[in-house]
Amino acid sequence: MRKTGHEFRTIWQKPGNPEIVQIIDQRRLPHEYVVHDLSRWQDGAEAISRMLVRGAPLIGATAAWSLYLAALEKSAADSPKTRVRQAAAVIRETRPTAVNLGWAIERVLKVVAQSADDLHLAARLEKEAHAICAEDIEISRSIGNHGLGIIEQLAEHKRGAPVNVLTHCNAGALATINYGTATAPIYFAHARDIDVHVWVDETRPRNQGSQLTAWELAENNVPHTLIVDNAGGHLMQHGLVDVVITGTDRTTRTGDVANKIGTYLKALAAHDNKIPFYVALPSTTIDWSIRDGLVEIPIEERAPEEVSQVYGRAGDSLLTVNTVASKTGISNFAFDVTPSRLVTGLITERGICAASEEALLELFPEFRKPAD
Ligand code: MRU
Repeated sequence: MRKTGHEFRTIWQKPGNPEIVQIIDQRRLPHEYVVHDLSRWQDGAEAISRMLVRGAPLIGATAAWSLYLAALEKSAADSPKTRVRQAAAVIRETRPTAVNLGWAIERVLKVVAQSADDLHLAARLEKEAHAICAEDIEISRSIGNHGLGIIEQLAEHKRGAPVNVLTHCNAGALATINYGTATAPIYFAHARDIDVHVWVDETRPRNQGSQLTAWELAENNVPHTLIVDNAGGHLMQHGLVDVVITGTDRTTRTGDVANKIGTYLKALAAHDNKIPFYVALPSTTIDWSIRDGLVEIPIEERAPEEVSQVYGRAGDSLLTVNTVASKTGISNFAFDVTPSRLVTGLITERGICAASEEALLELFPEFRKPAD
């Protein structure tokens, strides 16, 4: 994706000072575009837990860059390797559901373990963080190319009428380094002049749909319409949705998919209305160690204020307001699990496959266990 004519990126080193990593403070979009500096690894940990950055791939990349910042720190007390390992233990706990976090940390710790000396550790971790980001961009590009085929096929059937895609949360460029996962096929279809229109779920409580996905699509002139989270089923019943494409934060080796709370309900409605329900994901989001998403995927529970408060613009001011009586109890599960039986297909960087262990292993044979 591009932003006001410039090639887009969600995380980068500050021009002129590579010891500072910069991100977009996503909490402030779409009202303000604010670049935020990460100078210490703790800034990176906080950016993940307070959701200045979010989305599984970007969480992983931010963790990698934070460990580079840990390696840069000068301290008489600990060796750089010890500091990086200590930082890794803290960062690992920031958000439990997105598997890319642990994946990126493990990848960086491997480099730490293989580094014979402390002297060039920061340079090695910088290279690794760059590699993680570059690979993520290529993965999103491949997902976009594979997913494009689905939209092209639907467009043929629609004979000139727009292809209506429904998406939930933000699995867009903002959730990755660029292009996104669920949005990549949409951007690629739009770039080829296919008439594509996106129904954007608002995605309460944090509104990643209305605040992030809608912003991205608008920046790229992709036709889209914002809907409340409860509208999807109605639209599907009335033939107004051709395909659902979402992202995921953790997918089991059997194809169960954890994604933003409410995704499961969209999958149920799609199933009832015989509408294809696809999940776009980089293979870094597959947790090959688990089989049963309902039992084994940890579901993050977040602060009640995310439900009781709403942030937005009032005239010239940006305000947070309470919408709930103070005596009311609140529950805030951030993700749910869609069982593989409700998923039409998984769009990965290596192609599209059924949501099953067999089909995933066909694409990723390196994850076969001796018994498979
Ligand atoms: O809580 P978030 O905003 O990190 O949740 C993000 C989502 O659920 C996305 O849809 C998912 O991460 C896919 S990211 C490509």
